[in-house]
Amino acid sequence: MYALMYRYLLKWIDPELIHSLSTHFLKVSGSLAPTHYLMAHLLKPPVEGMGIKTLGLAFEHPLGVAGGFDKDACCLSGIDTLGFSFVEVGTVTPLPQPGNPRKRLFRLYEDEAIINRMGFPNAGMKQIAHNLRAASSFRKPIVISLGKNKVTDLALAYEDYVKVVQTLYEVGDFFIINISSPNTPDLRKLQTRAYLGDLLSHTQQAIRELAGTDSPKPLLVKVSPDLADSDLDALLDLSIQHQIGGIVATNTTLSRDGLQSTARNEEGGLSGRPLHQRSTEVIRYIYRRTEGQMPIIGVGGIFGGDDIWEKMMAGATLVQAYTGFIYRGPWFVKTALTQLQQKMRTEGIEHIGEIIGRAN
Ligand SMILES: Cc1cc2nc3c(=O)[nH]c(=O)nc-3n(C[C@H](O)[C@H](O)[C@H](O)COP(=O)(O)O)c2cc1C
Repeated sequence: MYALMYRYLLKWIDPELIHSLSTHFLKVSGSLAPTHYLMAHLLKPPVEGMGIKTLGLAFEHPLGVAGGFDKDACCLSGIDTLGFSFVEVGTVTPLPQPGNPRKRLFRLYEDEAIINRMGFPNAGMKQIAHNLRAASSFRKPIVISLGKNKVTDLALAYEDYVKVVQTLYEVGDFFIINISSPNTPDLRKLQTRAYLGDLLSHTQQAIRELAGTDSPKPLLVKVSPDLADSDLDALLDLSIQHQIGGIVATNTTLSRDGLQSTARNEEGGLSGRPLHQRSTEVIRYIYRRTEGQMPIIGVGGIFGGDDIWEKMMAGATLVQAYTGFIYRGPWFVKTALTQLQQKMRTEGIEHIGEIIGRAN
């Protein structure tokens, strides 16, 4: 039904309008006890044999919602009912900012893809900290994506990341440095040696100070799928040197290979089906290079159970999705985990953790 509605109705409506209507719906339905209960009951995914322990946290199953969906932490209780096991909030910048001018979000139906050039529109760290405090009944792990304001000079970018982590430390369970979005001018330069060492050391130092005598909450780095192997190597070396807790692979791509939709030449980052293979390659590369010692969150083109299976076999400990969820709708998590469980049965796997990195 959702696929039909998608094909014949949603296609004609501005994607950003659909997004804000959906998040409003999630906000309202998640906050009312009867609808919360009903949706959570209807959409409850099978989780037997799916629990994952990593980053010092327990996840009910490996599938979370990726960065950019709930930028302002405004609909966590609604997302809770959809069955995801963890949520990424943000990307959050110190000051609120409107992002790039509209129209900036495009659906490529024939390719099951999205191009976006949102440019981190968000309510700013103070408002988002407030929203997260108000959502304290949300019990699943929350990861916060740290970013810089568009106006901040690249040389001072680390100050933005430090400010955001300082403001949100107490309300997040772990943190991701986002230096791989293609939609903030020059942001991806922060992935290079010239900036990355300073950025990681300042942010880790801030986290250590915030943790005091407790163990510091994990800091991860999200990478672009467009990095050359040598740049990825340098990034991994620095990440190990600065005791980074894991790598998120990957953000959206600038590649436009093999696309059919008329919107294919829009500027921005491409996500969804066409990204799947490349992001899996990056996961495999990182897993091998770090000898499986660095937890990887695999993201890019997950539409169902087989895609999760592939990402975990390549080396992902957890996975995230955005575009697949947009295309498949509210039953996305339940369907994907049902498929994953069937696959586990046919392959004789009792616990999903057994397959991590097996393809290597
Ligand atoms: C509309 C849109 C907005 C996004 N915003 C962010 C963001 O703010 N921060 C971030 O780290 N990634 C952002 N992403 C990237 C996703 O988190 C994810 O890395 C990427 O879309 C690949 O996964 P997918 O193929 O499942 O969509 C965004 C993606 C989309 C489609």
